[in-house]
Amino acid sequence: MPAVISAPAAAMRHPFIRAYRSDDRADVARICLLTASGGSDATGVYSDDSLMPEVFALPYVTYAPELAFVVDDGSGRAVGYIIAVADTAAFIDWWKREWTPGFVSRHPSPGPATSHAPSFTEADLLKAGSDPERMRIAELGEYPAHLHIDLLPELQGKGFGRRLVETLRDALAERGVPGVHLSMDPNNTSARAFYDRLGFRELASHRPTSPLLGIATARPVE
Ligand SMILES: CC(C)(COP(=O)(O)OP(=O)(O)OC[C@H]1O[C@@H](n2cnc3c(N)ncnc32)[C@H](O)[C@@H]1OP(=O)(O)O)[C@@H](O)C(=O)NCCC(=O)NCCS
Repeated sequence: MPAVISAPAAAMRHPFIRAYRSDDRADVARICLLTASGGSDATGVYSDDSLMPEVFALPYVTYAPELAFVVDDGSGRAVGYIIAVADTAAFIDWWKREWTPGFVSRHPSPGPATSHAPSFTEADLLKAGSDPERMRIAELGEYPAHLHIDLLPELQGKGFGRRLVETLRDALAERGVPGVHLSMDPNNTSARAFYDRLGFRELASHRPTSPLLGIATARPVE
């Protein structure tokens, strides 16, 4: 008897990396939410599930869609992404001008408490969404770009994370950007092992409670 393959499993048989399209926006927001709690599902952690994507995903695909790449599950649906900006300082200026006003009007104050008690509180999240100065690190000269990468659980551990980072590094190198950095949740030890394996190094401003890693965009010839 032939094996019965469920529709999602069948659709995931040939995932591939492609450039982001504007119709991926809702998928990107969903992936962000489903991976935003130290790499796990953040649904219901805050009073409004749109908050995490509005801080950590949607500004990126709005500002620099050309530096966003997704893993397509083979049916057109995005199941993972890497998103980035080439020039963090310019992004900070854009964010203040174009993102902060709308964000603050949509989210003027923290909503009701949830049953979760995240250490990164909803007030912290609202501050992160309204004040992009948190992104101005000392190493922007050498590492002007920064990134976020998230894959749905069914796609993890299959080499797509490595390939997405390679795709982004190449795209940044083509644009003359020397280095890319990231900040991350210190509790996400699995992601830290991934970055270490890929060759990211701690930057001078790195702190154990506030990890800051970077890598050159040029890749050694294999
Ligand atoms: C972290 C993440 C992006 C990694 O992507 P991935 O596709 O699972 O990782 P890959 O399969 O490409 O792994 C690449 C390399 O890292 C290694 N690696 C990945 N995760 C690892 C872990 N937890 N421990 C040790 N090594 C690990 C792999 O063994 C692999 O090594 P190799 O290429 O030399 O064989 C992905 O798992 C993810 O999205 N997790 C949830 C969201 C998240 O945490 N995002 C990061 C927020 S900072």
